[in-house]
Amino acid sequence: MTVDFPPGFLFGAATAAYQVEGAAGEDGRTPSIWDTFSRTPGRVLGGDTGDTATDHYHRRAEDVRLMAELGLGAYRFSVSWPRVQPTGRGPASPRGLDFYRALVDDLLDHGVQPMLTLYHWDLPQELEDAGGWPERDTAHRFADYARLVGEALGDRVELWTTLNEPWCSAFLGYAAGVHAPGRTDDEAALRAAHHLNLAHGLGARALRAVLPSRARLSVALNPAAVRARTPSPADQDAARRVDALATRIFTGPMLRGAYPEDLLADTAAITDWSFVRGDDTDVIRHPLDALGINYYSPTVVSAATDNPPAPGQGEPSPWPGAGGVAFHRPPGKLTAMDWAVDPTGLYDLLTRFTREAPGLPLIVTENGAAYDDKPGADGAVDDPERIAYLHAHLEAVLRALGEGADVRGYFLWSLLDNFEWAYGYSKRFGAVYVDYATQARTPKSSARWYARVARTGRLPI
Ligand code: NOJ
Repeated sequence: MTVDFPPGFLFGAATAAYQVEGAAGEDGRTPSIWDTFSRTPGRVLGGDTGDTATDHYHRRAEDVRLMAELGLGAYRFSVSWPRVQPTGRGPASPRGLDFYRALVDDLLDHGVQPMLTLYHWDLPQELEDAGGWPERDTAHRFADYARLVGEALGDRVELWTTLNEPWCSAFLGYAAGVHAPGRTDDEAALRAAHHLNLAHGLGARALRAVLPSRARLSVALNPAAVRARTPSPADQDAARRVDALATRIFTGPMLRGAYPEDLLADTAAITDWSFVRGDDTDVIRHPLDALGINYYSPTVVSAATDNPPAPGQGEPSPWPGAGGVAFHRPPGKLTAMDWAVDPTGLYDLLTRFTREAPGLPLIVTENGAAYDDKPGADGAVDDPERIAYLHAHLEAVLRALGEGADVRGYFLWSLLDNFEWAYGYSKRFGAVYVDYATQARTPKSSARWYARVARTGRLPI
């Protein structure tokens, strides 16, 4: 038996510039914070960098042909800011823009709809040197960059995303320090979160001013599917605090035009939030055409019984102000990231935002799993666990659709195995296997399976 997705439902795959492009020093591209971070010993597993990555910059045409062969209706990619505006200010680099023009033209020629993300974590290093996301000016620099890309590609790209997972940029980058730029300063992380929000609002406004009216604007968040481990009031409150820092810190201003009161109270010992000025939250609440949701695994928390360290003390954590929270591995199968496979989390998020943002279309902008894929003797890569993961999550999307969620598309993370940030090349999320020694691409069995779903718009059940 099969179940149909709604007509026009987009099936795509996603990547991000630093994770796939390589060509780090070519055609005028300057270093981003991820170049600096990954070249710093001890930051990325195995000392891996994105210098070559999957060499997509040179294999663009081959990769687009592959997408078409796999029946993808859409491709979500990101633009490398230091490639198109090398110093993070001033005019665009024509050579940098040419790559994306060629990519988009190839996609359109092959009937694959482009979905463009402006910021997937590769801040030009020069802007970090000037203070990075904790500085307000970075949000204005982002709006200028958004305008440049909008002017160059607005005639052919319809689906636009401002930021990808600003939680990671702010809290993994500036509080926990496990992502670029590797800083561990709780106040700076909260400032960064606000300036990312502001960048989103200013960027959306700048795009609207230059894009044709058919363009659709979105942001891709990674809201936490948080669950309290027990119904006890203490555990419920831990879940509330994590939800505020993971999700409502972004959806509050973006969807309602205000930061949540409980977040301001929880973080009061770290900051008075005086960096939020004038009409910032009105700017951030720019009308959106879709909300992108990236989902991998749920977050299970309880109240930690031991006293939480004072702000700025103890191990750097990505949860400034969350107080004593313990994180638990939920039961069930794990992926190679040690993330639990639990599609209910995706269903919960889709139905939650249907309630909280009625009328706003949703797109699953990322979902997928890493496994230790290896080619067999015949060179084929069989990945039944990934098929099971995708199947279960697509079923969750169908369940949410059945209950009225307006989900317009689903993007598998990722098209190709690629540079998995602090894990380097050790984790393989691709539907297509990459042999990094030769850069040969081999579609895994999941790619063939997903191609059938994408072509027919039907899920076998
Ligand atoms: C989310 C990020 O957007 C993407 O860059 C990353 O590779 C995947 N999650 C998997 O961790």
